[in-house]
This record gives sequence, structure tokens and C-alpha cells, in this order.
Amino acid sequence: MKFFIDTANIELIKQINAWGCVAGVTTNPSLIAKEGGNFIETIYQICQIVDGPVSAEVIAQDTAGMVKEGKKLAQVHEQVIVKVPLTATGLGAVRQLTDLGIKTNVTLCFQPAQALLAARAGATYISPFVGRVDDICRDGVQLIQEIATVYEQGDISTQVLAASIRSPKHVMECALAGADVATVPPAVFLKLLNHPLTDKGNAAFLADWATVPDRDIIGQVDKFLARK
Ligand code: G3P
Repeated sequence: MKFFIDTANIELIKQINAWGCVAGVTTNPSLIAKEGGNFIETIYQICQIVDGPVSAEVIAQDTAGMVKEGKKLAQVHEQVIVKVPLTATGLGAVRQLTDLGIKTNVTLCFQPAQALLAARAGATYISPFVGRVDDICRDGVQLIQEIATVYEQGDISTQVLAASIRSPKHVMECALAGADVATVPPAVFLKLLNHPLTDKGNAAFLADWATVPDRDIIGQVDKFLARK
């Protein structure tokens, strides 16, 4: 499973992208509104930071309007993926954008049947909202599992992009359930990384190394090579 970061916050994208494990970014109208600033400038800046797919969502609700906006968004940067809601008009837009060679991320997916429709319309990615399924006392991870199974049986290339991720547990369970990608909020990324035993072990390594007479690794290698 690959990691995308689910935010439009430039500083947090820079911070976590520096870890070297982020393969893309997803945004949506709410995440863009939260950060303020110019939508298109933000998307372009994100594309310059992260070397991977960057989802930018249309806001039109009719197929023609979605296609018009999607074609424009695709001109912003080659990494832009056009995000489209999983509605009847959205499916029509996905088909037209796909036929134009424009990649799409179909969002707000809550049941496997929706995901199958999106795949057959040509979706590049499908975004099932795991957390929001949990919010209504259903099983969001099971949705990922069911979609992955349906796609595998249907010989479908649409990638399952687990979204609405709320915890490290969601991340790992989605990986086990067969998600191709998890788009992870910055706060959850930090929880994925940090572990007290890692900090404790690293502190112990440093404390023990402090007792070593010559602690300069670079200098030691230079001396070693000079003697060869
Ligand atoms: O990518 C979708 C995500 O941003 C929605 O998350 O927590 O609002 O359900 P949430």
C-alpha cells in the first residue's frame, strides 16, 4: 500500500514529504477552504513539492460543468488528478475525462456497488470514506475489503484509495484489507511514526555511544581509508 497525504496545508506537506514515503496528495473543497489561499496556486505548489498524483476536486454538479472544470484542472500540472463525486453526473464526467486521457479520483464512495460503477466508468482511483462509514456504526475497513475483492474478481485496474482515515489502526487494517493507497491526515502520519520504545531505544544507543572514545564516524572512516 502507498501513502498519500490528505491535506492542503503546504507546511505540513513539506514536513511529512521530507520523510521520503509520501507518494501523492489528496485535497477536497473542505481541505482547500480550511487553508484559505488560492485553490489553483495551492494545487500547483503541492505538485511542485510532492512527486506524485495530486487530487483536485471539481465543484460543478452537472456533467458538462465537471468535464469543463476537470479539463482546466488537468492543465495546471501533469500530476493533477481530477476528483469527482460519485454521483450520476459525476460518473458521466469520469467517462468523458477518462476518454480524454485525464486521470480521475472518484470520491465519497460508501458501498461496493458504487465502486464497481466508478471502475466501469474508468476511474483511476476510488476513494471509499472509511471513517465516515464507521461514523454510522458500519465497518469502514470491511468496505475496503469488499471493494478490493470485487475489483480483483472483475480484473479492474482502478486503484482503491482508502480515505477518511482517522487512526494508525485504520491505516494498517486498510493495508491488510487490500487498499492500494491510504490518504492519511498529517496528525495520523505522526501517530504512525512515533513510538515510545523507538525513542527509548534511540536514547539508549546515544547514551552508550557517548562512552565510546572516538565518536566521530566520519573522521574514523577517513582515518581508516587513509591507512588502506
Ligand atoms: O479524503 C477525505 C477526507 O478528507 C475526509 O475525512 O475525516 O472528514 O471524513 P473526514
